[in-house]
Amino acid sequence: MSEIIVFGAGGRAGRAVVGEALHRGHHVTAVVRNPAKYQDLEGAGVRILTGDVTNADAVADLAAGHDAAIMAAYDAGAQPDVFFTAAAHALVDGLARAGVGRLVAVGLAATLETGDGMPLMDTPGFPQEYRPFCLAHAAGTAVLRASVTALDWLIVSPAGDFDEAGAGSGRYSMAGVNMASRISHGDFALALLDEIDAPRHHRMHVGVEGA
Ligand SMILES: NC(=O)c1ccc[n+]([C@@H]2O[C@H](COP(=O)([O-])OP(=O)(O)OC[C@H]3O[C@@H](n4cnc5c(N)ncnc54)[C@H](OP(=O)(O)O)[C@@H]3O)[C@@H](O)[C@H]2O)c1
Repeated sequence: MSEIIVFGAGGRAGRAVVGEALHRGHHVTAVVRNPAKYQDLEGAGVRILTGDVTNADAVADLAAGHDAAIMAAYDAGAQPDVFFTAAAHALVDGLARAGVGRLVAVGLAATLETGDGMPLMDTPGFPQEYRPFCLAHAAGTAVLRASVTALDWLIVSPAGDFDEAGAGSGRYSMAGVNMASRISHGDFALALLDEIDAPRHHRMHVGVEGA
């Protein structure tokens, strides 16, 4: 049993992660900005705390005493280029101060590399309207890649996209970028928790798809 802190615990990916962590018997600290909005997360094994993942001091305070952190936050009201970079800096700094060694973050398929090493977002035909958001995600990843702390980070994203309505199969597989592939949030959470319970990938971005 581990102590796991989840930033963005009330979101689509975040709440699936909380559910899977509890199912495995872990203790979860669910970090949200407005607890009144997320009372439904309450239950045995969950502690709801108020915090902002872009604030390094808050990350350091909240994360102390945990074995691992999961980053599932996304602020639709912020400039993406500001949000993802600020969150990555705050996590690198705050988790180091808190003594948390493992971070698993939810990523974006468009920033996964294709077989020839080119990010999907740079390939011909990729919809240009999504490019600023993709670049913002990639900038956050660059902060993690450049980090010089002992943080053992991993970014996991769908190889294609989430199946928003799908119930899932209880299985997933590692996968290279594939815009046609889908994974339910529940199956995606399995991959994140597996990388907490028995880390297999380190300081990289991997894709997963439903099996
Ligand atoms: N195909 C793909 O690769 C793909 C598809 C979809 C999503 N994603 C990625 O998956 C990640 C999670 O997305 P999602 O769909 O789960 O998002 P979501 O449902 O919008 O949830 C995000 C959560 O983050 C919280 N949040 C926002 N700002 C925060 C802050 N500063 N500190 C702490 N919590 C904060 C939000 O809460 P409040 O705003 O209520 O405070 C919300 O509950 C994102 O990075 C997204 O880009 C990837």
